[in-house]
Amino acid sequence: MSAKKTQTKSQKSSKERPLTQPRREAKTNTASYSISRLSSVLFAILLLLAVVAMAALFYLQSIQPPVQRPTVLEDEKYYFTDSRYAGIRSKFVTRDTKREKVSIEYPITSNSKINKLIARVIDRADGDFRHTATNAPTFDRPMTETISYQVTHNNSTALSIIVNIKQDMHGAHPVSLTHFWTFDKKSGEVIGLDNLTEKSEEAIKAIVTAARHDVAQTIKQRQQPEANLDEMITKKALSNFTITDDGNTLAWPIGQASLLPSAYGEMTIKVPIAAVAKYLQNPTARKLANIPKPPEPKPAPAAPTAANSGGKVIALTFDDGPGPYTAQLLDILDQHGAKATFFLIGSKVSAQADVLRRMHAHGHQLGNHSWSHPELPKLPIDQIAGEIDRTNEAIRQATGVKPSILRPPYGAVNGIVLEQIRARGMSSILWSVDTRDWADRNSDIVCSRAVAGARPGAIILMHDIHQTSVNAVPCILSSLKQQGYSFVTVQGLLGNMAPGAGYP
Ligand code: NI
Repeated sequence: MSAKKTQTKSQKSSKERPLTQPRREAKTNTASYSISRLSSVLFAILLLLAVVAMAALFYLQSIQPPVQRPTVLEDEKYYFTDSRYAGIRSKFVTRDTKREKVSIEYPITSNSKINKLIARVIDRADGDFRHTATNAPTFDRPMTETISYQVTHNNSTALSIIVNIKQDMHGAHPVSLTHFWTFDKKSGEVIGLDNLTEKSEEAIKAIVTAARHDVAQTIKQRQQPEANLDEMITKKALSNFTITDDGNTLAWPIGQASLLPSAYGEMTIKVPIAAVAKYLQNPTARKLANIPKPPEPKPAPAAPTAANSGGKVIALTFDDGPGPYTAQLLDILDQHGAKATFFLIGSKVSAQADVLRRMHAHGHQLGNHSWSHPELPKLPIDQIAGEIDRTNEAIRQATGVKPSILRPPYGAVNGIVLEQIRARGMSSILWSVDTRDWADRNSDIVCSRAVAGARPGAIILMHDIHQTSVNAVPCILSSLKQQGYSFVTVQGLLGNMAPGAGYP
């Protein structure tokens, strides 16, 4: 502004002077002429400064980050903290007024693309909420909004994040939404089911079918009416997924009314990776999660049977686990190249799912030993069924494999129990040698009983929940090996049994 004024003034004076001033007044003129020249230099400098200042202002505006939230809210406060997840910080935003009570936690990862995508989803939901809260008549209590996140997988290449949005806008139902993604940490791109399976139709179909099966199980357990899952649980609906359970499970934490009708509530669909591992044998999937190698077709000599070992085979069986010494027992069996059978307590399975996967991967057999170890014949039929089904399901969840054999707790079995076992295509397995290892917690005694009782085709009963029993195993294995025995699973010993068959 001041530069312009100066300009008009000095232009005037420099124009007028040569015309109005006669030549003989040159002396006085020289002084006034140099003043006029000084002012035009001054003007030029000021003009230059103004241009530089405007350019600087323009530049500063252009380098400011894009404003994500256009409105600055008076009551909004925010702060940053480290989250409980490695390499991820949280940005908390809170607003607390008569109208609204808001708490939002944004994840801040090292990849800005990931951060932006998540912030956009959160801001959209928050924008809707704010619109409602601002335009509604005031209530005696504020509307509430809580947005938080969870990280279920965070390895060197991938990150699974779930955002939970809970809003109570005094409507008929509080809003409960989830958004979830698995990101490539480097590129910031969302990894879809297509990337995981390299677009193999067969692989996607297998995963979608496994997901439907899991939803059906949950619906059955909750005693909700059957739903048309073929329409609701589709390839498209499952495209975004999360990884949980230390990289061993694919999961879809679906919010209320997102895939299933509202009445079904929230649910996390889970597919154990072991169950679909053969469809995930590709580099992308392998970088993301724990993909077990596909089981190699077993050449006959690898698994000794009654036929190829001159009949000198024995099945060692371990009940009541998995327990604190089971992993140690697996090491011992590996060292001796021995296979065994584990009759598992269903309620203990999920805590040691990794141990079960190892059992399965190393060629041992997994059997059902009920959910809570009751005397089955004393229970009503529906409870017998529950004890068997819950355990089968827990083992299937952990390993992808459904057991075909059951050992009734205390060896207690009757016609009703056998009928339940038969109805599930399973058989009942007792034992021929009881080491009574639970009574004598002495490894030497346990070893000598097992060795003394050994006959070709014997099934030896032990419990891997006792350290003394596990400690007896090296002695049993080396003594019987010297006698020419090899160690097989129950299935290796008896082959495939008819449903409802019992041993002995
Ligand atoms: Ni038992």
